[in-house]
Amino acid sequence: MNGCCGAYVARFRHLFGMWTYAGALCFFFHEIAQPEIGLQLASIASLDSAVCSILSAVLDPARVVAREPTVATIFRRIHRDEAKHVRLSRHMAAELAPKKSINSVAERTRLGLAGILARHGAALECLGVDARWLFTRLGRVPDGLFRL
Ligand SMILES: [Fe+2]
Repeated sequence: MNGCCGAYVARFRHLFGMWTYAGALCFFFHEIAQPEIGLQLASIASLDSAVCSILSAVLDPARVVAREPTVATIFRRIHRDEAKHVRLSRHMAAELAPKKSINSVAERTRLGLAGILARHGAALECLGVDARWLFTRLGRVPDGLFRL
């Protein structure tokens, strides 16, 4: 994480601490909106890939959800759906977005999501997920996300 992103996370933490949860969500979605379609798709690919990471962690066979077949089936269905969104949006983003901005938009999106979810670390821990590990993972854009 470079200095710019560290300041961004600090800004999120500061603002999220001051706001209601609904206010923090509004801020997050406002911040990830992009005026340029390629960068909006980069933001979507980044967010949906983060959702896939969350669902992978929750669906790990060693976790509580694996012992709840109905919930696990629903989460797997959502996971497959989000993976489709990632496949579509990452390709379009790679073709349309300015290369110099694509990774910073993706990283800001994932850091913002991690900031929102930081309020729910205890809930993730109840599901057997190491919240600190997951938030660290969410803060990084997967290698090759925008490589065609
Ligand atoms: Fe999606």
